[in-house]
Amino acid sequence: MDGNGRWARKRNLPRVAGHRAGTDNLRRILEACVRNNIKILTLYAFSTENWNRPVDEVNSLMRLLEIVIDRELSELDKNGVQIRHIGRLDRIPPTLQHKIQTAVERTRHNDRLIVNIALNYGGRAEIVDAVKAMLAEGLHPEYIDEQTIGRYLYTCGLPDPDLIIRTSGEYRTSNFLIWQSAYSEYYVTDTYWPDFDENELKKAIDHYARRERRFGGVGSS
Ligand code: IPE
Ligand code: MG
Repeated sequence: MDGNGRWARKRNLPRVAGHRAGTDNLRRILEACVRNNIKILTLYAFSTENWNRPVDEVNSLMRLLEIVIDRELSELDKNGVQIRHIGRLDRIPPTLQHKIQTAVERTRHNDRLIVNIALNYGGRAEIVDAVKAMLAEGLHPEYIDEQTIGRYLYTCGLPDPDLIIRTSGEYRTSNFLIWQSAYSEYYVTDTYWPDFDENELKKAIDHYARRERRFGGVGSS
């Protein structure tokens, strides 16, 4: 969900106004996902590197996330959305941690759309956590393969993403699902996140539908 800051700057507004606009956008995108039959959506809300931002901006982002959960949880639950968190809970302010845990608990039996909130998430941190857990459990090297590692990631039990959309025209992964995205299709749009709408989502899906996915093979044609 990139480009909030530039969206605000273009309007001579403070960066936090861009972040607010970015959260206002969430409901519309979640509804669009349900309409377009998407089953799993992961939102990259805050990375392990985003702690390097000015403390005021970090605090505003955390506060905004609390507001979003308070504002949207009932509706999301009613609409069959299952909320999950991927990332490290440590460092997240306790009030937000608590709200996340409540949201996860309350929606755990929903199955219309799974929404992973990547918050204090880093792909490298995820792999570090997986290695630590495997060592702590005393896994023998002989029994470690790619499936094993997949089971120790935060996304355990979920398929790898088919499509990764990056808004605001940046061509980099920024530490997002780096293990899981080995064969994901990437789509980059210049649109800033607060302006990303159902029409943009459909464009991304159309692009995806035209790609030939070969997974390292030679394909069918
Ligand atoms: C949102 O966009 C990303 C978050 C960490 C919430 P940015 O804040 O990165 O916006 P730009 O890149 O400065 O435009
Ligand atoms: Mg950015």
